[in-house]
Amino acid sequence: MKHFKPSRALTELPVQFFAGLVQKVNRVIAEGHDVINLGQGNPDQPTPDHIVKALQLAAEEPLHHKYPPFRGQPSLKEAIAVFYEREYGVKLNPETEVAVLFGGKAGLVELPVCFTEPGDTVLVPDPGYPDYWSGAALAKAKMEMMPLLAENEFLPDYESIAPETAARAKLMFLNYPNNPTGAIATKEFFEETVSFANKHNILVCHDFAYGAIGFNGKKPLSFLQTEGAKDVGIEIYTLSKTYNMAGWRIAFAVGNASIIEAINLLQDHMYVSIFGAVQEAARQALLQPQTCVEELVDRYESRRNALISACHEIGWDVLAPEGSFFAWFAVPEGYTSQSFADLLLEKAHVAVAPGAGFGEHGEGYVRVGLLHTEDRLREAVQRIAKLQIFKKQLTT
Ligand SMILES: Cc1ncc(COP(=O)(O)O)c(C=O)c1O
Repeated sequence: MKHFKPSRALTELPVQFFAGLVQKVNRVIAEGHDVINLGQGNPDQPTPDHIVKALQLAAEEPLHHKYPPFRGQPSLKEAIAVFYEREYGVKLNPETEVAVLFGGKAGLVELPVCFTEPGDTVLVPDPGYPDYWSGAALAKAKMEMMPLLAENEFLPDYESIAPETAARAKLMFLNYPNNPTGAIATKEFFEETVSFANKHNILVCHDFAYGAIGFNGKKPLSFLQTEGAKDVGIEIYTLSKTYNMAGWRIAFAVGNASIIEAINLLQDHMYVSIFGAVQEAARQALLQPQTCVEELVDRYESRRNALISACHEIGWDVLAPEGSFFAWFAVPEGYTSQSFADLLLEKAHVAVAPGAGFGEHGEGYVRVGLLHTEDRLREAVQRIAKLQIFKKQLTT
């Protein structure tokens, strides 16, 4: 059989760091151990019933067995506009300011292809979600990392970006509530973002994947609530996390009409649109009462509280995330993010994601998901306690 050599674009894609983690976890499970896997980001709860029912009904509708309209169903785009106005007070033109996406991932990867030439600079948060790297690699753009540091509340510091870099930058990715740090953005930070983007002519893409998940009674801000945000950017919102619909592959981009048009144009050449029944169920998810979302956020907050108190009890001095369903824990002295994650997996059978997988500035941290029950999270911490690492720290 002939072996066909893939294109350079494919061979130059970044290595999927977390594929290695999955393999390691699977090996320990195959050895017969009960691994508590806190390393992944897959919502553990099912999609709410009323949304599943809406899909079932819509799937029986012959209209949806035909090609859906290019660029998505107008009724879904109208629902997105209603959702943004209701949730954030942001007005959108459903025709020109909304693009329907096959999951947020698709939009994130399409954007550099739409807006950069080979060699152009893309500003990317570090640590950050690896999809930003994939789009930049496909477009042959050059990434400049914006460090997210604890002392800056895990927000980029625009003053520390060299003026030449800012001048070269075409596109910037941001993500709050943040994966992996669990930080949230402030109004002031988004205002600074708009003025930085205006000054240097940078297109801002705010990835709002965890937009629904804010703790301590704080609703995460939409970037589009900031004055002038639509002049410089878009926001990408997914139904994956808000409604536990990760398997359904439905999301949307909203904001600046010229950016939305470019995404739609690229998608005209790649797809028709998402299965009409999925679009109809998504429409209902956005328009029906949001009790399921409130319950989900309460559930994550209780889990967060259970996890953080258990860690404090064993002497692990960790910080509580303010949003998303991840906690970002500094590793104890003497370990790297990888060596600590390996130790927890091998000796406690608890899997966490090593921070280095999210970029250079993720070193020194591990990401812990809140995607198990409170009991299971407490059990994970009890197993870690038995390693006696933190007791040592308490006595020093
Ligand atoms: C920060 C961030 N952005 C985007 C996504 C993509 O979500 P989806 O493609 O399911 O819409 C995820 C999923 O884990 C994420 O963590």
